[in-house]
Amino acid sequence: MQKVMARPLADVEVLDVDRQSSGDHELDRVLGGGVVPGGVVLLGGEPGIGKSTLMLQAVLQMAVKMDRVLYVGGEESPEQVRMRAERLGTVPPNLYILPETNVQEVLKELEENKPGAVIVDSVQTLFLPEIESAPGSVSQIREAASALTRFAKQHQVPIFFIGHITKEGSLAGPKVLEHMVDVVLQFEGERHHAYRMLRAIKNRFGTTAELGLYEMQGNGLMAVEHPSHALLGQKIGEDGLSGTAIAAAIEGVRPMLVEVQSLVSTAVYGTPQRSGTGFDLRRLNMLLAVLEKRCGFKLASKDVFLNMAGGLRIQDPALDLAVVAAILSSALDVPLPWGTVFAGEVGLTGEIRPVPRLGQRVSEASRLGMKRMFHSAHARNIQIPEGSNMELVAIAQVSDLHGKLF
Ligand code: TYD
Ligand code: MG
Repeated sequence: MQKVMARPLADVEVLDVDRQSSGDHELDRVLGGGVVPGGVVLLGGEPGIGKSTLMLQAVLQMAVKMDRVLYVGGEESPEQVRMRAERLGTVPPNLYILPETNVQEVLKELEENKPGAVIVDSVQTLFLPEIESAPGSVSQIREAASALTRFAKQHQVPIFFIGHITKEGSLAGPKVLEHMVDVVLQFEGERHHAYRMLRAIKNRFGTTAELGLYEMQGNGLMAVEHPSHALLGQKIGEDGLSGTAIAAAIEGVRPMLVEVQSLVSTAVYGTPQRSGTGFDLRRLNMLLAVLEKRCGFKLASKDVFLNMAGGLRIQDPALDLAVVAAILSSALDVPLPWGTVFAGEVGLTGEIRPVPRLGQRVSEASRLGMKRMFHSAHARNIQIPEGSNMELVAIAQVSDLHGKLF
């Protein structure tokens, strides 16, 4: 056997990956520019969120350009898949379906008719007969996926594994595959809302900063071109109701205005309730504690509800300031004037911390006709896009917010 020698990294040839479009621009972008030959992708998300829809929609396009695309799985019958495909588009003749969950049988089919791409829906239904545990168990998932991954690498065939993940995210299953695959995508949203977000958690072929946005409609998932329009609940130009505030957020690389809605009311039953849709509950509790301690706002006996319009889970900490403003506005029952946006992180001492890329946030807010942006007084080197007449209101502490707002 030939010995593997160490060599200068600088001498290693840079290979141009030959990417192929999946036919879905949002998906392509999140993948880092398209499907990579031999690339193994795990698409995770809660049951019912739209994973099968997303992949089926993509393969209807992929199969147009490839010789053969194979949809494998035991989640739904071929008739069900066909019915759904009819709703989503035209079914190309070289899209094949294999309702098989035994990995050895799947491998036989792959060896015989090498497809250009494979979709497995879902990885939880696969099993290897030589392993005793039930399908869906950690060892089955791991072995089944690694057998197929070997095939993908050997034959340069891209494989997409769909995996169900529960809200807690950790329940035995697809999580065990994260280290083994090249790309981990997560499909998120509130089931009762139409918006969906596709993000990369890991990507060996590109950045994890790209973000895909979709709206679930009767005929499948449509790309959302202008997220701000979608995520602003109130009509542009009208004063909002009390309890709403607009955040200038950046998710991945996309700036977007997000409406934060809050309702503060006197708790009727003993323990006050706190709930957040699209927002981390621990973060909400932290912000409430800061308001209480640094502003002397008595919220301990209040119910506090928080909603992100559209139901998307935005992770940008710049949302904090809008959350605080929305809570103050609801508690005082005073609406915020039209045209006000917020971008700032709130620290434990109540200080408003600067957020990155303020210029981009200002551009997006200006584009949508916003007039004033509250941000951190601690920000340095602020670069405001030319031609913007956004009024910037710098605040250092949450306690200043009240005075400058009302
Ligand atoms: P699905 O892709 O089956 O979710 P997953 O594979 O993640 O479990 O789709 C979930 C829901 O999407 C389903 O309940 C119905 C809805 N849907 C639409 O609203 N429009 C459509 O065009 C399709 C295909 C599904
Ligand atoms: Mg499904």
